[in-house]
Amino acid sequence: MSENINNTTINWSNGHNHPKGKFGNTGIHVMNNNINSSVLKLLDKAEREHDLSIDEIVTLLKVKGDNFTMLCQRADRVRAKYHGKEVHLRGIIEFSNYCHRNCKYCGLRRDNQDLKRYQLTPQEIIEMALEAADLGYKTVVLQSGEDGYDADKIAQIIKEIKEKAGIAITLCVGERDYEEYKLWKESGADRYLLKHEVADPELYHELHPEMVFAERIKRLEWLKELGYQVGSGNITGLPGQDEVIIARDIKLFQELDLDMVGIGPFIPHQNTPLKDRPAGTVEMTLKTVAVTRLLLPLAHIPATTALGTVDPEGRQKALKAGANVVMPNVTATKYRPLYEIYPAKICIGEEAKDCRQCIGGIIASLGRVVSTDYGHSLKHGFR
Ligand code: 5AD
Ligand code: SF4
Ligand code: FES
Repeated sequence: MSENINNTTINWSNGHNHPKGKFGNTGIHVMNNNINSSVLKLLDKAEREHDLSIDEIVTLLKVKGDNFTMLCQRADRVRAKYHGKEVHLRGIIEFSNYCHRNCKYCGLRRDNQDLKRYQLTPQEIIEMALEAADLGYKTVVLQSGEDGYDADKIAQIIKEIKEKAGIAITLCVGERDYEEYKLWKESGADRYLLKHEVADPELYHELHPEMVFAERIKRLEWLKELGYQVGSGNITGLPGQDEVIIARDIKLFQELDLDMVGIGPFIPHQNTPLKDRPAGTVEMTLKTVAVTRLLLPLAHIPATTALGTVDPEGRQKALKAGANVVMPNVTATKYRPLYEIYPAKICIGEEAKDCRQCIGGIIASLGRVVSTDYGHSLKHGFR
């Protein structure tokens, strides 16, 4: 399969049906040679030092054509060096779509009254986690809107999943109190995801009414202090965002010394104030993934479901541009259409076992393998 991006023919296939390029079997084959020497210098520097200035990052975020292809190849090479062929799978359980927040881009926002709300019981959540473990998942992600789910119940769920399945647990339930984060860590949770979404305090406040950027960052610091493996991330292509803001996102990933970074494109949702705004592009999302990989070689970076939604090959492309994680859905099928943070989300009609099989096929087709270990942070202290 090939496509034309900015007049450069890129072969996105798995590398078995075309000659190996200069950088080995990356699956991305440069058809002509139009590499800008200043871009090449920046890529060499990023690959050697894993650090760039804001201006340098902006330059890379603006590359096109063969330079874009080269950026993805270099990120893929860094991924291969630090993470090898292994792809970690995290099974996501979307356990509640209630949310008291009103983020302007999100379909779960409280003002969207055109959505049937659901909240799973601890028993249902535990059953789904055990099913995920049976399917071979070594991590489950417990994700919800900010629904105020009882902290003690969450602690109990964590303990029971740990006791019965022994798998790693990632929480993704938004902004809560220090004491709650502490309780969950002590109950056995391993990781926490809290995307900062956009590294610009004013735009953050504009997109998240009633929310304050500094509160977000404070929580990421608490989580780190509590011993969680911490993930954050951004949305690419948000209205009002530009390359400089994305560069600041990436610098912030570095400053926070993140263990995990999630990067997905903005997808407009019909029942939100941003319904008429354009979606984020595949290219900008891939560039953000690639530069993040160059600057945070050890981080776990997922090929996001949002990218798989805007482009059927989106996750494959991300896996070839620095990503080393996929997060398939393990939520019971009947709830899936209701967790509509953005429209046309993939995997809505599938069951957990279908997604597991599908993703196994995708990973194999890229010449990669599904990891059999927990996929903890590669950073010192978690290994
Ligand atoms: N487009 C892309 N990503 C979105 N999210 C929420 N709404 C959208 C949207 N419309 C992402 C946010 C949030 C995660 C649960 O989903 O980054 O952290
Ligand atoms: Fe709620 Fe999260 Fe959606 Fe914001 S992004 S409305 S906090 S589910
Ligand atoms: Fe769900 Fe492909 S991962 S159908």
